[in-house]
Amino acid sequence: MDLKDHISIDALPKHVAIIMDGNGRWAKQKGKLRAFGHEKGTKSVKQSVETCAELGIENLTLYAFSTENWNRPKLEVQTLMKLLVLSLKKEINTLQDNKIKLNAIGCLSLLPKKVHKELLDVIESTKHNTRMTLTLALSYGSREEIASAVKEISIKVKNNIISPENIDESIINEHLYTQNLPDVDLLIRTSGEQRISNFLLWQIAYAELYFTNVLWPDFTKQHLYEAIIEYQKRERRFGKTSEQLI
Ligand code: FPP
Repeated sequence: MDLKDHISIDALPKHVAIIMDGNGRWAKQKGKLRAFGHEKGTKSVKQSVETCAELGIENLTLYAFSTENWNRPKLEVQTLMKLLVLSLKKEINTLQDNKIKLNAIGCLSLLPKKVHKELLDVIESTKHNTRMTLTLALSYGSREEIASAVKEISIKVKNNIISPENIDESIINEHLYTQNLPDVDLLIRTSGEQRISNFLLWQIAYAELYFTNVLWPDFTKQHLYEAIIEYQKRERRFGKTSEQLI
């Protein structure tokens, strides 16, 4: 029996988020440059996107570039930006064929002009697709996202658009980059690191966390199935007791 047959289609996570880690180590193990690992990593991106769409997962969010990643060597940052533009150009048909809507979160204005434009073009041309939303976190940091939400809300308070007594979780949600996305159900991190690294801190409040030693360039469809099968074995209590869930 294929691993896929162990997945219960009526209990799929609505939102899967992935911290794609280990490209550099994968390349090093092979005696290659880090760029080689990132390039191979784009193949895992494609496979994960197609697998999620095939299964019927409605939202997939990928941590492609963090605010901290700007501190990497200039050449590596350039390589990642180049790969991003190439992938967007190359995979536009994959997105359209699978009816996938592209979305992006983060400080997008910090991206090089060419990347920003390509991104906005693909977002625009896929905006009517409804099967799945693929969100790329680019120049993204969760603390920055929360700080900018607080700033926006404060301005609205100052201008009497929001009254302080009415500030609640839903108002905060509406001011995050992820305003149109549901909370994360399953967060996957590859490469054996067990950290969140400033990714979707607010949105993972009740997510199931799944860590695997597999390095991102080696992460296949089968590994994604394994993560979903493990997710479906977990009992999600959201603060209640097991008995209350029955
Ligand atoms: C982490 O590996 C990976 C990244 C910082 C970037 C992820 C980018 C891609 C997979 C390619 C382009 C993305 C898209 C969406 C087309 P690492 O470099 O931190 O690895 P290491 O921890 O082993 O050094």
